[in-house]
Amino acid sequence: MSFFARVTSRPPNPGKTNAIIMGRKTYDSVPASLRPLAKRISVVVTRDTSGSVKEGVMRELVGRRERIAAKAAEAVKKDDGEKAVEPMTDAIVVPSLEQALERLESEYGEKGVLGKVFVIGGAEIYNAAIGLQAGSALKGRPVRVVMTNVVRKGVDGSVGSFECDTFFPLDRLDGGNGWRTANSAEVSEWVGEEVDGLWKSEGDVEVQMVGFEKV
Ligand SMILES: NC(=O)c1ccc[n+]([C@@H]2O[C@H](COP(=O)([O-])OP(=O)(O)OC[C@H]3O[C@@H](n4cnc5c(N)ncnc54)[C@H](OP(=O)(O)O)[C@@H]3O)[C@@H](O)[C@H]2O)c1
Repeated sequence: MSFFARVTSRPPNPGKTNAIIMGRKTYDSVPASLRPLAKRISVVVTRDTSGSVKEGVMRELVGRRERIAAKAAEAVKKDDGEKAVEPMTDAIVVPSLEQALERLESEYGEKGVLGKVFVIGGAEIYNAAIGLQAGSALKGRPVRVVMTNVVRKGVDGSVGSFECDTFFPLDRLDGGNGWRTANSAEVSEWVGEEVDGLWKSEGDVEVQMVGFEKV
C-alpha cells in the first residue's frame, strides 16, 4: 500500500498532479476518512445517472480538502520553511473510461497540470484499460501495466492458494497478444523508483514486481 501511495502521488514535475481512475466500488473500498485520496485527481467511473454518486464524491471532496488544509495550517505553525508546490486533491465522476481520459485532458491536461494517469481497478476498469487502442482518448499516452506477483511460501503453485473475489485479466497480457514484458529499468522509470524485478520475501509470501507495455 505504501508503494501504491508513493508512486501514484509523486508527480513527474512540480506543479503537476497525477490522476487515479477507478470503478465506483474501488472508490467505496477506500476508508471514508481518506476519500478522495490526497494529492491526486480521483476519477470515479459509474453508471449512476441519478447524480447520487457524484453528490457523495463531491461532498467527501469538500471534507477531505478541509482536513488537508487544517493539517497544512498546523504544519506551517510548527515550521515556516519554504515548501515545494503540493499536488492538488481533486475528484471528478464520469460515465466511462473514455470519458475519464477526455475529462482529464480537457480539465487538467490543457492547463498543463496533469501528471501521470493510473488506472487502479477494479476488474471491469482494468479490462477496459487493457483494451484501449492507440489513437483513442489516450492522446498518445502508452498503456502500461505494473503489477505484483504474489505466491504463498511453501504452496505448490499460486493458483488456489488465495481466496479472491476480483480478478485481473492476466491472460490478455500474454506475449503475442499485443503486449511485451518490460525490463526492470523500464519499470523503475515508470514508477519513479528502483525496481529490480527479483522475488522478495515478505512475511508468509514472496512478491515480485513486473511490468508490461502494449506494443
Ligand atoms: N488489488 C488491487 O490491485 C485492487 C485494485 C482495485 C480494487 N481492488 C478491490 O476490488 C474490489 C472492487 O473491484 P470490482 O471489480 O468489484 O469493482 P470496480 O471496478 O471498482 O467498480 C465497479 C463499478 O464501477 C462502475 N463501472 C465499472 N465499469 C464501468 C464502465 N465500463 N462504465 C461505467 N461504469 C463502470 C460501476 O459502478 P456503479 O455500480 O456505480 O454503476 C460498477 O459497479 C474492491 O474490493 C477493491 O478493494 C483491488
